[in-house]
Amino acid sequence: MTTADVPPPWGLLAEVTHACPLHCPYCSNPLELVRPSAELSAAEWTRVFAEAAELGIVQAHVSGGEPLLRADLAEIVAAAHRSGIYTQLVTSGVGLTAGRLAELLAAGLNSVQLSLQDARRPGSDLIAGRVSYTEKEEAAGVIRDAGVPFGLNVVLHRRNLGNLREIIEVGARWGADRIELANTQFYGWALRNRAALLPTRDQLDAAKAVVAAWRAERDAPELVWVLPDYYEGVPKPCMGGWGARTITVGPDGTALPCPAAYAIPGLDAPNVRERPLGWIWTESPAFNAYRGTGWMSEPCRSCPRREVDFGGCRCQAHALTGDAARTDPACALSPDHDLVRAATEAPRADEFVYRRPGRSVSG
Ligand code: SF4
Ligand code: FES
Repeated sequence: MTTADVPPPWGLLAEVTHACPLHCPYCSNPLELVRPSAELSAAEWTRVFAEAAELGIVQAHVSGGEPLLRADLAEIVAAAHRSGIYTQLVTSGVGLTAGRLAELLAAGLNSVQLSLQDARRPGSDLIAGRVSYTEKEEAAGVIRDAGVPFGLNVVLHRRNLGNLREIIEVGARWGADRIELANTQFYGWALRNRAALLPTRDQLDAAKAVVAAWRAERDAPELVWVLPDYYEGVPKPCMGGWGARTITVGPDGTALPCPAAYAIPGLDAPNVRERPLGWIWTESPAFNAYRGTGWMSEPCRSCPRREVDFGGCRCQAHALTGDAARTDPACALSPDHDLVRAATEAPRADEFVYRRPGRSVSG
């Protein structure tokens, strides 16, 4: 693919801070977090959103960490809104008061995605590494009362899959329009906790039956089931393809095709402080590294699914094999598939390792 052929991106993941009150053992933020002193200012975000809109981006997820920890969040949301970009706040709910949400809605916020860790308080607080369930419940009430589109995001793993029906019922009771049931993706901090998080095939089969039963009984909330790739034998079409749909801009302006790609060495990630977003998208070596199919080797190169799943996830290939250009080991055709199969058969652990140094809570 030449740079002239690169279709425009659709979405922007704006990680406005890595600071977060929670300590989830599957955190997708990089192992090395950006310090608040290095974060882009609201004025810099304003320029990023203007460039994003010019490039064709129509939707931004304003995320973190916990974006509510930015005192100037309304200014950032307003900038996205002025550029004509639909904005969704991605939040733990900690700090989402009625006043704060009203301020964000006045700035042009369009929707909210709230995270939930488990159906009940003890399990949710254990996974979050902090007492937070009540604040989430209150935040859900605030979102519902504001009448703004409301999504719930639940990362699923062996410690909460058994509660799936109850989790969905909580989402329905809290007023969510949509529940994203995101089976844990194992890179970054989640890979460190894989033995404590990876479910069994039986757990996943039971969970799929719960989802099917709910869909048969009810139209709402809408359930979105994110593929648990360790057991499927086919990889996920990660990010809809590398450099195909979205740009992630981290708190310090680092721009990457995916939020987990910080871990891939040698990518030479561009920064919005140094380059315009248009150049980053079409010209930068990082965004072109695994774009299209030209970079593939066998078995992907001659596989009929190469434009369906794009060879799977580059971050997972790197995390498991040390080479981001290899076929995703989640694929049954990958020469490295034994790495995934061995993990599914390995003994499980009961203890999480939390992000905060020295903090490890068993339950
Ligand atoms: Fe996808 Fe590559 Fe596996 Fe084919 S060989 S299914 S393209 S990951
Ligand atoms: Fe980075 Fe899949 S998570 S490409």
